[in-house]
Amino acid sequence: MENKKIIIAIDGFSSTGKSTMAKKLAKTVGYAYIDSGAMYRAVTLYCLENGLFNGSELDVAKLEASLNDLSITFGVNEAGGTETYLNGKNVEKEIRQMAVSSKVSIVAAIPAVRRALVLQQQAFGKEKGIVMDGRDIGTTVFPMAEMKVYVNASAETRAQRRFDELRGKGDTTTTYEEVYKNVCERDYIDSHREESPLRQAEDAVVLDNSNMTIEEQDAWLLDLFNRLTK
Ligand code: DC
Repeated sequence: MENKKIIIAIDGFSSTGKSTMAKKLAKTVGYAYIDSGAMYRAVTLYCLENGLFNGSELDVAKLEASLNDLSITFGVNEAGGTETYLNGKNVEKEIRQMAVSSKVSIVAAIPAVRRALVLQQQAFGKEKGIVMDGRDIGTTVFPMAEMKVYVNASAETRAQRRFDELRGKGDTTTTYEEVYKNVCERDYIDSHREESPLRQAEDAVVLDNSNMTIEEQDAWLLDLFNRLTK
């Protein structure tokens, strides 16, 4: 008999390695993977490209009026990785840059943006068989998800990971201190905003991976998945 299909929600602070583990788990179990953070990042890129930001000030009315003109989709590249498209254009690289990272929490706090993206995320999960990572997946997007994981790691560990990632991508100017500051700022905004703040769902299982190897983490996730789908 085929195992039952479930929804897997992986939430946690930024740079906890959620995306990497979610992607890997999806591949291992043959599920689709959706990076919900990429969707908030794509809206942020749209705001930056269309002059909706004046410094840190966002023209919320203009953004709300533009939401219907925004199409965010996902494609799969030759290596099997998921890439984000904004109005048909591949923006996977742009949305990972610091310019977007430093503004995304502002955009993600706008209720109309969250409403629009949550609806789209729920549509992605209609058929189940999906792994989605973010901040509010187990609480707001899929409160009925069968598997909920809440990932955590210290701010220092997370800043170091993001710093290494930026260096690996050829960014030689951003300092560790800047990344650490950005991580702490986003932690604060993401967990204190009024609309769907980051919090652990009551029925989520906590995974603190500060001192875990990738292999240990993957085995931990797969074991939980196997127990829930038996
Ligand atoms: O996971 P990430 O760092 O790529 O997410 C980018 C930002 O989007 C993050 O600062 C918080 C926000 N976000 C959110 O509010 N809700 C989600 N479900 C996913 C991300």
